[in-house]
Amino acid sequence: MSGHDTPIPMTASRSGPLTGSAAVPGDKSISHRALILGAMAVGETKITGLLEGQDVLDTAKAMRAFGAEVTRHGPGAWSVHGVGVGGFSEPSDIIDCGNAGTGVRLIMGAMATTAMTVTFTGDASLRKRPMGRVTDPLALFGARAYGRQGGRLPMTVVGAADPRPVRYTVPVPSAQVKSAVLLAALNAPGETVVIEREPTRDHSERMLTGFGAQLSVEKTAEGDVITLLGRPELRPQTVAVPRDPSSAAFPVCAALIVEGSDILVPGVSQNLTRNGLYRTLVEMGADIEFQNPREEGGEPVADLRVRFSAALKGVEVPPDRAPSMIDEFPVLSVVAACAEGTTVMRGVREMRVKESDRIDAMARGLEACGVRVEEDEDTLIVHGLGTGGVPGGATCAVHLDHRIAMSFLVLGLASRKPVTVDDGSPIATSFPIFEALMAGLGAEIRRG
Ligand code: S3P
Repeated sequence: MSGHDTPIPMTASRSGPLTGSAAVPGDKSISHRALILGAMAVGETKITGLLEGQDVLDTAKAMRAFGAEVTRHGPGAWSVHGVGVGGFSEPSDIIDCGNAGTGVRLIMGAMATTAMTVTFTGDASLRKRPMGRVTDPLALFGARAYGRQGGRLPMTVVGAADPRPVRYTVPVPSAQVKSAVLLAALNAPGETVVIEREPTRDHSERMLTGFGAQLSVEKTAEGDVITLLGRPELRPQTVAVPRDPSSAAFPVCAALIVEGSDILVPGVSQNLTRNGLYRTLVEMGADIEFQNPREEGGEPVADLRVRFSAALKGVEVPPDRAPSMIDEFPVLSVVAACAEGTTVMRGVREMRVKESDRIDAMARGLEACGVRVEEDEDTLIVHGLGTGGVPGGATCAVHLDHRIAMSFLVLGLASRKPVTVDDGSPIATSFPIFEALMAGLGAEIRRG
């Protein structure tokens, strides 16, 4: 369920120390990519640790609609029998990507250079989000898109029958746009060049290389110049999906602000394009030990020992760090509310076009909980109240956004009065075991 059904209000109350181990599910970004690249390889890709959240299940369903054989063998264990680059068949029905911006944008890229007509839709949140950022570069390959005003879903994409390679500078820091262009480039003959001024998550580049595509990344004054040679035969892979650092953020931040807590969160990615939150928390004075650094599923990971941190201080987050923690600003703003002093988050305008306008959703909810906040188009500033200083006692609107729901539930664990979210159902899109995992640590979260 991703907020399509009856809303599920949830309430978090001040909790005793959180203790134990918090093994979070597989990475959402990597799970989408494993299914899509598996479908574009010739032969059988095996995946372990796949996130079985609704967003990823919707991508699995979509890959079946394009002709790949996608099979679940057990928890997190999946296989994809791919049809090869350019081998997709035209789906016989609309592709519904539910709540998933990553799903719809990457799949649009993957089909845009094959002659077929595909109509995409999604839930009420996804239907509000801009698709022009993806369909503009796909038009350069020769694809056409017909959507609602403002480039919104439902949208029909007509793939290019005779695609040409492109050179494209990504105008906004977005891994989804970069990845859509790279996936489209797979079925365009010749070299496609994507230039990224601000580095974003690099899972597509890593995984494309793993599947045997010829891809190079050059650091230049213009930014990262990524060159991909079209029409490769992708070789099926065995993909071990590492745990999701964006999901790990919730138990980690909860332990930092709930007095007496001491938890272990195993296998958290330290990929520099994903770990901005963890670097920021350390600067705030968080007690986090990065134990046992190693590689897992091609990603650098560490086990995090996280203890309650009484002396958290507000910081100014450098704007160039924003892409490496773009999904973590909501929960950072909760930690900021429980810290001493002011936390300044600039260069965060991309937060406004996520599953909800996350600057607005956090500002309104924090204010309702008694926290002073300032915002403008590109900035969120939170004035901290220190340990145990947040009054709470409010109901916060989630706007079909899983990360907003989990952030306010984390806040409720350390507020004086309980915090309620109007709908916890979207949590299932990315973190279906959130309630059980948090309960296992001793968090007081209940439905209602
Ligand atoms: C993602 C990229 C980010 C992020 C999203 C996942 C991805 O979006 O917010 O949750 O897997 O590529 P943008 O590319 O729009 O910044």
